[in-house]
Amino acid sequence: MKKYVVTGGAGFIGSTLVRTLLNAGGEVAVIDNLLSGHEKNVLEVRDRIKLHILDIRDGTAIAPVIDGADTVFHLAAIPSVPRSIDEPRPSHEVNIDGTFEVFNAAAKGKVRRLVYAASSSAYGDSETLPKIETMPAKPKSPYAVQKYVGELYASVFTSCFGLETVALRFFNVYGPRQDPSSAYSGILSLFMKHLIARTAPTIFGDGEQSRDFTYVEDVAALCLKAANAAGVAGKMFNAGNGSHYTLNQIWSMLQEMEGVKIPAKYGPPRAGDVRHSMADTAAAKAELGHAPKFTIEDGLSKTLAWYKGSL
Ligand SMILES: NC(=O)c1ccc[n+]([C@@H]2O[C@H](COP(=O)([O-])OP(=O)(O)OC[C@H]3O[C@@H](n4cnc5c(N)ncnc54)[C@H](O)[C@@H]3O)[C@@H](O)[C@H]2O)c1
Repeated sequence: MKKYVVTGGAGFIGSTLVRTLLNAGGEVAVIDNLLSGHEKNVLEVRDRIKLHILDIRDGTAIAPVIDGADTVFHLAAIPSVPRSIDEPRPSHEVNIDGTFEVFNAAAKGKVRRLVYAASSSAYGDSETLPKIETMPAKPKSPYAVQKYVGELYASVFTSCFGLETVALRFFNVYGPRQDPSSAYSGILSLFMKHLIARTAPTIFGDGEQSRDFTYVEDVAALCLKAANAAGVAGKMFNAGNGSHYTLNQIWSMLQEMEGVKIPAKYGPPRAGDVRHSMADTAAAKAELGHAPKFTIEDGLSKTLAWYKGSL
């Protein structure tokens, strides 16, 4: 049985990936310090995984967990643009120093492959859409810089230390277990919370900014494909759907689904926010066999059903 390690496995995307890996027949160890993750996210699979409550910045503590793994999926991070502007140092320390410790432990521990959760924020504001892997990185926030440094390290760990790595630039991921309880929470989790409470969400900016919203199960499936594809070591791929919707469109769709009319409130645009985002998915399709299964309508209705059952 393959041994997988998921850093950040108690978080939103990580906890879905854990289920995907268990379904694929793997043995799964999670490293998470529960900063924004929760043990309840892995509740019904709790007895099938090993949960190590550790900080990725502690290289000595995480090394024995990572040692000898088939694949490490590195998702642990402080994953927020505005939080990286309000509190740049902890973001820097976790997203860069912690990432280095994970890569170092994987190289020393003879891990076969490491899949790194990179971010579409690395593109910044490109002139054209879709965003394609060959475009130069233009990070606009500390978070985007940090995630991009992780990509550079991933590629260098392949070329200098022989650790096979694949970086996946996640676009805006949404789905069950995305935590809506913080001011830094992902926009769709906040939309879900407000829709269910019948209150108005606040959209920062005019709401015409667009995102390539990607359902979390598609992202988890792609992570597994990246772990197994041949000839991709050291490369970076977009992990998006290849479509984009504005925040105003998504809020309208959600209101229609519930048959309600709740005009959103608008606040000032936020520093570091990218205006438009949409992935070119050709490389991920050709080299990783990427085939997203969920349309935005499917994904939103599955997500809404989950929030209704849990909030
Ligand atoms: N959600 C998105 O739309 C999106 C987009 C692009 C990239 N990403 C990346 O995907 C990954 C997962 O993000 P998410 O949305 O699931 O967020 P999340 O906050 O739910 O998950 C992050 C996890 O990392 C853990 N963590 C934080 N600091 C840690 C530390 N020092 N040591 C150990 N664990 C630590 C948290 O407790 C949490 O469980 C992140 O690397 C993020 O940068 C997410």
